[in-house]
Amino acid sequence: MRTQVGIIGAGPAGLLLSHLLHLEGVDSVVLELRDRAYVEARVRAGVLEQPTVDLLREAGVGERMDAQGLPHDGISLRFDGADHRIDFAALTGRRITVYGQQEVVKDLIARRLADGGDLRFGVSDVAVDPRGTITYADAAGARRTLDCDVIAGCDGFHGITRDAIPAGALAVHQHTYPFAWLGVLAEAPPSHHELIYTYHPRGFALHSMRSPRITRLYLQVPPEERIEDWSDRRIWDELHTRLAADGFTLAEGPILEKSVTGMRSFVAAPMRHERLFLAGDAAHIVPPTGAKGMNLAIADVRRLSVALTALLRNKDPEPARRYGAECLSRVWRAQHFSWWMTSMLHTFPDHDPFQRELQLAQLRYTATSQAAATSLAENYVGLPYAR
Ligand code: FAD
Ligand code: DHB
Repeated sequence: MRTQVGIIGAGPAGLLLSHLLHLEGVDSVVLELRDRAYVEARVRAGVLEQPTVDLLREAGVGERMDAQGLPHDGISLRFDGADHRIDFAALTGRRITVYGQQEVVKDLIARRLADGGDLRFGVSDVAVDPRGTITYADAAGARRTLDCDVIAGCDGFHGITRDAIPAGALAVHQHTYPFAWLGVLAEAPPSHHELIYTYHPRGFALHSMRSPRITRLYLQVPPEERIEDWSDRRIWDELHTRLAADGFTLAEGPILEKSVTGMRSFVAAPMRHERLFLAGDAAHIVPPTGAKGMNLAIADVRRLSVALTALLRNKDPEPARRYGAECLSRVWRAQHFSWWMTSMLHTFPDHDPFQRELQLAQLRYTATSQAAATSLAENYVGLPYAR
């Protein structure tokens, strides 16, 4: 079989790319290892920056996000036992929207299927030839070949497409942090109307949410931590300790999901090799502290859809030639922001008291200087897309 764009991975990047291409009259096939129920239930990101919200709306897939997403005009930095609010609306005129990644994924799948899109779940043994061929086994186990004008590697950090680029052609920059995040989803009303990023001597903690009934919480833990060692009681006790502040009561409820995720920064370049283009986590990941991963994936495919439309519909190779370099400038800005937020808010096992005082000095400056707060705010709500 033949298609214009063979897309590997039905995460936010692959699904949105397929939809944006469809709007431009370019056809695609999406291949996904997991089944539909699995990708629609996978709990991950929750913060949409303003450019992401605008793009989803313009692309006609923002209806449920607008009805159910929670617009937030700021966040709190909690340290020294008190809250210091960063007022995004006042500082930048923009805001974020709290809306689960799996809801974005559900909306995109529903829309692709309604538009007659070709999404193939439950495939296996996917292999990619960067000259334009994908082979795989379909859900029934039959071997298939897909010939493509272009292949989009949207298969996340653990996917196979990045490895299809010869090692000599790929440069990798990475940094691993000496901690992980233990994330929980709890059936409890949020204890505060906004996100709280907490610096505490026992480690970072984050209060977030998904809806008026569901809280999302994270704890910094050692990188090798096993989730089996964290009973629900232990999790709540640690959250109470780290999130303690005057006038704040953390609401508890049944824990619906819990997992541990390691933290690293990673960039692979170039993002194109022959007919293969990488997008999203397949090419780069950030530590979650800046809430940038899914937003970067979406920024990539916005650019990729324009580049592939020019290439395949108008025979103009220029935007596709510039694709990787143009994405990487936003990626490196987000890398810096995510590293900076991570460095300011976590406790580092090798830090001495001098370094801890530096962190607190940076937190106090960010909370009290309009210039410093604006820098955090404009990065967090999302810098405008470059043209
Ligand atoms: P993915 O979502 O990883 O999708 C890749 C898809 O490819 C998957 O469905 C996978 O099953 C499939 N796949 C893999 N291998 C193959 C193969 N060989 N063949 C076919 N299919 C394959 N980001 C934010 O912006 N804001 C946040 O608040 C935020 N919080 C986070 C919190 C946590 C705990 C975690 C883990 C991540 C968070 N992120 C956040 C990051 C965000 O979830 C990712 O950046 C985002 O999922 C990237 O989207 P993607 O489409 O590139 O990759
Ligand atoms: C969430 C995740 C993040 O990484 C973050 O920085 C803020 C919120 C969340 O899942 O709600």
